[in-house]
Amino acid sequence: MKALIPAAGLGSRFLPATKAQPKEMLLVVDRPAIQYVVEEGLASAADEVVIINSRDKKSIEEHFTPNPELEAMLRERGKDKYADAVAHAGNLNVSYVYQDEPLGLGHAIYCAHEKTAGEPFYVLLGDVLVPDNKMLPAMQAVSDAHGGCSVIAVMPVPHEKVDRFGVIAGQPVGENVWKIDSLVEKPPVDEAPTDLAVFGRYLLSPRVMELLADAKPTVGGEIQLTDSLDAVLQEEEMYALVVDPADGFDTGTVESWLETNNILWQRRNG
Ligand code: G1P
Repeated sequence: MKALIPAAGLGSRFLPATKAQPKEMLLVVDRPAIQYVVEEGLASAADEVVIINSRDKKSIEEHFTPNPELEAMLRERGKDKYADAVAHAGNLNVSYVYQDEPLGLGHAIYCAHEKTAGEPFYVLLGDVLVPDNKMLPAMQAVSDAHGGCSVIAVMPVPHEKVDRFGVIAGQPVGENVWKIDSLVEKPPVDEAPTDLAVFGRYLLSPRVMELLADAKPTVGGEIQLTDSLDAVLQEEEMYALVVDPADGFDTGTVESWLETNNILWQRRNG
C-alpha cells in the first residue's frame, strides 16, 4: 500500500521565499515540512511514500537521498546527533513520479496510478501536518469497520471559510464518524451543505484512481480530487472521520506556517 504526497505546486503564497526553494522544504521547527508528512506516511500501513514532484524541485529528492560523506564527516567531528538526523532523512523509503503540468490535485494523484497498482492508497496533502501520526491509523480503523471503504478526514471550520475547502454532506453515524452522501469543492458559503471541510488526509479505494483517469477540469479550471470522490459515491460507501483541530496543523499560508512553528516549538520545549 502506498502513501501519495502531491508536491508539484508552485508555492505562490510564500513568494519570494519559494522563488528558489520548494515550499515543501521550508523549515518547521527542525526539519523541512515535507519530512513530517513522509514520516507520517511511513508510520501508517503504507510501505512506501510516493512524492508526486515537479522536475524542477530536485532539492526535495536530495533531502531524501543518503549522504554518506556528510554523515561520516559529522561523525568524525563527534556530531553524532546531526549524523543520525542526516542518516534518518536519507533512509526514508520514498520514490517519485512527476506531474509535468499543473492541472489540479486530481491530475497529480492520477500521475501515481501505476504505483498504487489497483490497491487502496493514502493521500497526504503537504499543507497540513499531523505530527503525532495518529490520524491515518484512526481512518484505517473506520475503513476496516466498514468493509474497507474510502475514508477521508474532515475538520469543522468557521462557516465563512467553507468556500476555501472541499465540503461534505452526510449524517453522523458514530462518535466523530459521518457517512458521506456527497462532496463539493469550494462551494459558495451560502450553498455549503455543512461546515465540515476536507482536511488533507484520505484513504481511498482503487476505484477512485480509476475514475480519475477520465476526470475533467471543473472548479478553478482544475481536475479536482473531490469530484472523483463524489462520483465514487454512486458505487461505494464513503465515511468521514471528524478530526480535532488540535491534531492537525495548517501550514498553507505564511501566517498559519508561523503559528504552526510556534505551537510545535512550544510543544517540543514546553
Ligand atoms: C485541496 C482540496 C480541498 C481540501 C484542501 C485542504 O484544496 O482540493 O478539497 O479541502 O486541499 O487543504 P487546495 O487547498 O489545494 O485548494
